[in-house]
Amino acid sequence: MSLVTIDHTTCRRDGICSAVCLMGLFEVDGEGFPAFRADGDQRCIACGHCVAVCPKGAVHHEALPLEESPLLDQTLAVSVPALNQLLKGRRSVREFREEPVPEELVREAIDAARWAPSAVNRQPVHWLVIQTPAEVRRLAGLVVDYLRQSSKLEPRYALFIEQWDQGKDPILRNAPHLVVIHAPDDWIWSSVDGAIALTQFELAAVANGIGTCWAGFLMRAANGHPPLREALGIPGDHSVFGALMYGFPCYQYHRVPPRQAARVEWR
Ligand SMILES: Cc1cc2nc3c(=O)[nH]c(=O)nc-3n(C[C@H](O)[C@H](O)[C@H](O)COP(=O)(O)O)c2cc1C
Repeated sequence: MSLVTIDHTTCRRDGICSAVCLMGLFEVDGEGFPAFRADGDQRCIACGHCVAVCPKGAVHHEALPLEESPLLDQTLAVSVPALNQLLKGRRSVREFREEPVPEELVREAIDAARWAPSAVNRQPVHWLVIQTPAEVRRLAGLVVDYLRQSSKLEPRYALFIEQWDQGKDPILRNAPHLVVIHAPDDWIWSSVDGAIALTQFELAAVANGIGTCWAGFLMRAANGHPPLREALGIPGDHSVFGALMYGFPCYQYHRVPPRQAARVEWR
C-alpha cells in the first residue's frame, strides 16, 4: 500500500497536489489522476502540502490523516495592520508580575510553534519549560557562576555579577518562567530551525498577553557551563539553541520606538 493514495471519486484531476509537491512525487496515470510515485514512500518529507491544498480532501496520506488536518477557517484571516502592530509592538519584557502564567496559554504557544518552517520538515526542536520561579532563579545563579569564571575574559560581566550579589537578577530578570529549546547537534539546521520555532512561540505568547525576553546569557552558558547543562538536563548530543524568560508584564508599552532603516539592496 502506497503512503499516499488518491480518492478517485472526489479527485478533480486538477493536478494541484502534484504542483505543490516540493519533491515532485506525483505522476499522472492513464486517466489523468495523480499517482504517487513508486519511490515516493522513501522520498516524502511528510510536509502535508498535498493534503492541505486539495479542496476536495481527495489526497490520503497515511502519516497525515485528514481527521488530523482540520479545515482552515477562511473568515479568520489576520488583518495586516493587526499583524504589523503585533510585530512592531512586541518588546523585550524585563519586569514581570509574580502571577503565574497559566500552563494552558503556554501549551497554546508551543502548539502554534509546531507549524514553524523547518529545513526538510525535520521539526527537530525539543522544549523544556521551567515553571517554578525558584528553579528559574537557581538557573540564573548557575549562569552567574559561569560569568564569574569568564569574568577575566569579559570584564563587562562584572556589572552583572555585582548586581546579582546585591540581590538583583540581571540574567533572568526575576521572571517566573523560562522556556528553553534544544535540538540535535548532528543536524546542520538546528540553530535556524530552533530560532524560528522560538520566534513563533514568542509571537503566539505575546498575542496572548504574555511578556517575553530572549535569555542570551543563559543560552551561552547552557552550552559552555556543564553544571547548567546538567541542571537543564540537555541530552549529550543536543545543544541549546534558544531560551526565553516569560511572565505577565508589569508595564504596558504605548509606542513603537524607531529602529534602523532596513539595509536593502534592490536589484
Ligand atoms: C539572541 C538574543 C539574545 C538576547 N539576550 C538578552 C539577554 O540576555 N538579556 C536581555 O535583557 N535581553 C536580551 N535580548 C533582548 C534584546 O536586548 C532586545 O531584543 C533588543 O534590545 C531590542 O529590544 P526589543 O526586543 O524590545 O525590540 C536578546 C535578544 C536576542 C535576539
